[in-house]
Amino acid sequence: MKILGLNTIGFNTSASLVINGKLIGSIEEERLNREKRTRKFPIKSISYLLNKNNLKFEQIDALAISWNPLINLEKFNFSQSEDKSFIPNITFSVPSYVLKLNSDKTPDFFVQDLKFKKKTIKIYYINHHISHASSFFFSGFDNSAILTLDAFGEKQSGGFYIGKKNEINKLDSFYFPHSLGSFYSTFTEICGFQPQSDEWKLMGASAYGIKSNNIFYKKIRNLVDLYKNGKFELNLKYFNHYMFHRPYFFNKKLLTHLNIKKNKKSNLSQKYYNLSYAAQKVFEDILFNSLNALYKKTKSKNLVFAGGCALNCLANGKIIKKTRFENIFIPPVPDDSGAGLGAAFYLNNQILRRKRSYVMKNNYLGPSYTNNEVLSVLKKYKLSYEYISNPSLVGAKLISENKIIGWFQGSLEFGDRALGNRSILADPRKKDIKSKINKIVKYREPFRPFAPAVLDEHVKNYFTEYQESIFMEKTVNVKKKKQKLIPGIVHKDGTARLQTVKKINNPKFYKLIEEFYKLTNIPMVINTSLNYKGDPICSSIEDILKTFYLSGLDVIIINNYIIEK
Ligand SMILES: [Fe+2]
Repeated sequence: MKILGLNTIGFNTSASLVINGKLIGSIEEERLNREKRTRKFPIKSISYLLNKNNLKFEQIDALAISWNPLINLEKFNFSQSEDKSFIPNITFSVPSYVLKLNSDKTPDFFVQDLKFKKKTIKIYYINHHISHASSFFFSGFDNSAILTLDAFGEKQSGGFYIGKKNEINKLDSFYFPHSLGSFYSTFTEICGFQPQSDEWKLMGASAYGIKSNNIFYKKIRNLVDLYKNGKFELNLKYFNHYMFHRPYFFNKKLLTHLNIKKNKKSNLSQKYYNLSYAAQKVFEDILFNSLNALYKKTKSKNLVFAGGCALNCLANGKIIKKTRFENIFIPPVPDDSGAGLGAAFYLNNQILRRKRSYVMKNNYLGPSYTNNEVLSVLKKYKLSYEYISNPSLVGAKLISENKIIGWFQGSLEFGDRALGNRSILADPRKKDIKSKINKIVKYREPFRPFAPAVLDEHVKNYFTEYQESIFMEKTVNVKKKKQKLIPGIVHKDGTARLQTVKKINNPKFYKLIEEFYKLTNIPMVINTSLNYKGDPICSSIEDILKTFYLSGLDVIIINNYIIEK
């Protein structure tokens, strides 16, 4: 059974290939068309997955799409349904009219048959939040509570689910416009960042806000009602995110209430840092209220958390402390780029009742290159290079000598975080390393922290608690005593966005950090994604060469080849 799971709507479009229940490959379209957060149909991603696996499209049995447009059609739109100027419109005007006759609940998915070269390929359109919740199927949990939260998918902005073996069932739904994702985007926009894109900047900025007597906290908290059942309501008079014809997520009333203007400068004054802190704090209030209610409902110690809100690693790192969940699975692609993947697993495991046989242990799911392929590209561009037999050892030594290196090994990561295959690596012992990386390659806001990739067995020595975070999905506190040793990764509030590295997850990257540890007695390196500002993470050899020559990087290591300037 060959399934293509697709996210085709919104930004971060992507494709994933699942064959007989195993995830064979995944990639976001932006990595191939080089348009950051692209909204284009993932046709390059589909072609890549087919070519890589020597498949023709007609060998695919089904497509799983992470959106069920029938739900949107429930709201009958006369002018759209009558407008036949574009004849293929009948593909929606027919169901649109027929649904008018239907008083039952719209199903969680619907199916189209596509006749393609004598083959019938089925297209399953699957409810968006079920697609997010389906991360359960590759979580490794036999049973689990599941929370999904994002901006919106069809009508929902979130949901409570329970997963058991081959089935997930909905317990409750959160409905748009009461949306945690849009709530956070509103403050992202007031701070002058791009909503639905730059939320991580707001998260980074929150560390610089004052905690006590923060005047914004109460004001924002007053705009939200939290309920015992885990749901919440926003006071919609203060928000505009649901009025799609209006230019901003916020309105005048909200700015007056907060006594603030939209930030128009490229840097943030203290006022905006304080606002960031308050928005993050209220985000966490809403999240933990939901999680605690979900625990009460399910009494499960296991939690799967997905949807764009699960990208908030600062909140993710607090789940263990603030709830009774003990085991947490947050996929490396909790946002919509991973929703198509979820849809594929829902189809395979729940609709088709096929046995679960895959647990996601890493996100190295994209293109990789052989040494011969690397060599032919380097020769093509007449570059000077050197072959090295042990890239981990050479890389570690260079980092210990204060070099910032581009590290390109194995398969490209799926998701926003580079986890040691398309990474920029640097020495965490250097205080000025952040500004140095920013100056030579990232050109980004000074308040955004860089993350440490840490040997798993050493995490306890440097951080106040051990939490597995193999996808860099959690932020944790750095031990006070150790902060001086690793100033390059300690954020303003004493935290760090942790990546725990086990040998089994990435042997080559593990070896590099191990060698760095032998040289310096520090069991971690700085790990940030291999790209410059505004550019997607490097996918191909050409991408890293372009990044290398358009930045101040000193060295790059591609498989077993090193290039220096
Ligand atoms: Fe979503």
